[in-house]
Amino acid sequence: MNSLRIDSDRFQHDFEALARIGSTAQGGVHRPALSENHLAARRWFRERIAADGLEFRQDPAGNHSAVLPCPHAQAPTLLLGSHLDSVPNGGRFDGALGVLAAYEVLRTIRDAGIRLPFHLEAIDFTDEEGTLVGLLGSRALAGNLPPSELAHPRGGRAALLEGLHRAGLQESEIPRAARPPDSLAGFLELHIEQGPRLLEAGADIGIVTGMVGIGSFLLTFTGRADHAGTTPMHARRDAGLGAAEMIVQSSLAMRSFSDEVINFGHIHFSPGAFNIVPHRAQLTLEYRSPTQAGMDALKSTLTELAHASARKHKLELEIDEQGCVQPTRCSPGIQQAFRQACKRLGLKAVPLPSGAGHDTQALAQVCPAGMIFIPSTGGSHNPEEFAAWPACVNGANVLLHAVLEFANDFAGG
Ligand code: GLV
Ligand code: MN
Ligand code: MN
Repeated sequence: MNSLRIDSDRFQHDFEALARIGSTAQGGVHRPALSENHLAARRWFRERIAADGLEFRQDPAGNHSAVLPCPHAQAPTLLLGSHLDSVPNGGRFDGALGVLAAYEVLRTIRDAGIRLPFHLEAIDFTDEEGTLVGLLGSRALAGNLPPSELAHPRGGRAALLEGLHRAGLQESEIPRAARPPDSLAGFLELHIEQGPRLLEAGADIGIVTGMVGIGSFLLTFTGRADHAGTTPMHARRDAGLGAAEMIVQSSLAMRSFSDEVINFGHIHFSPGAFNIVPHRAQLTLEYRSPTQAGMDALKSTLTELAHASARKHKLELEIDEQGCVQPTRCSPGIQQAFRQACKRLGLKAVPLPSGAGHDTQALAQVCPAGMIFIPSTGGSHNPEEFAAWPACVNGANVLLHAVLEFANDFAGG
C-alpha cells in the first residue's frame, strides 16, 4: 500500500479538460456559481463520473459527488473535495484542483481494490466563492447555513434566485442537504496555497492549522443629488465623499491590527453622472481575522467608522450584514494523518494558517476536517494563479495516503 500512487496522466488530462470550460483569453476561467459556465463544468464532472462507472450523487443544495460505497451500508462517509465555481475572471486551480484530486484519489482506491471501512465520496460543493452566498453547498451539507444568509446573500437576492432556477434547484429544499453529523467520518481538502509562504519555506506541502473568519457588509450612504456646478461645496450632502472617507479611514485604522485584513471590492455611485452630486454610494466591505476576538474588534471598529463617515458628510447610513463565517481550527487528527502521509512520501511539510475561506471551514463544525496546500505562484483570484504539475501530483498523493492513514486509525478505533 505504501507504494500506491495516483495516476498523474489521467489526473492531468481531466484537469486540462475541465480548465477549458469557461476558459478566458487571459488563461484563467470565468465560472461564477450557477452561471452557464459553472453548470457546464458541473455537467462535465457528472459525465466523467458516469463514464468511469462510478455512482453519482446530487443533493438538494446542488452538491455533486462520486461515491465509492463500502459494503457496510451503515458506515459513515469520508468526504474529499472542494469546488468547481470560480470568482469572476479567476484562475484554473482554485477549487477545481481539489475536486479533481479528490476524484483521482477515489479512482485510485477503486482501481487498487482497497476496501475502506467507510464510504468514500469525492464532492464538488456549490458556490464556495461567495459570488452568490459563499460556502453555500458545504454549509448546507453541514446543516449550518443560516436562513438569513439566503435572505441577504452577498451577490443579491435576484442573482441567487436566477442561479438556483438555472440549476433546477429549489431554495426551500436546500436545508434537506444537511447530513447527520454521525454519518460523516471526516472531510479532507486539497487546495493551492494562493500565497508565497510555501515557496519561501522551500516546502512541498502546507498542513493547514486553521482558517480565517470572514464577515461581509453592504454599506449604503445616502445624501442628496444636486447640481454639480451651482451647489457650493459646503452645502452638499455628497454620498460619494462618505464612501471615500470610509475607505481611507478604515485603511488607516488597520494600522492598529496585525493579522486582520479588509477589502472594499465594489463601489457604486448613483445616479452616476459627471454633473450630479451622487445621492447614493454603495460599498461592499469584507473583513477577515484568524481569531474571534479579531473579528469582534474589526466589526465594531468598522461599524463606528461607517457611522462617523456618514455624520461628517451629513449622510444617512444603512449597514446590511451579508453573511459571516467564523474562524476555524482544523482537526488535529487529520493534520496528523497529513503529516504521516508526507513522511511516507518523503515530502517536506510545514504547518500554515489560511487567509482564505474554504469548504473545510463548514465541515469542521460537524466532523473532523482538515486541508493541505500545495505551492502556487501568481497570487490567486486572477488568471495568473499557477501550480506546477509535479506539485499537484504531490498534493494528490498526500491526499491519497492521508485517506489510507485515516482508514487505519478508523479501523483501529
Ligand atoms: C475564497 O476563496 C475566499 O477566501 O474568498
Ligand atoms: Mn477555493
Ligand atoms: Mn477562491
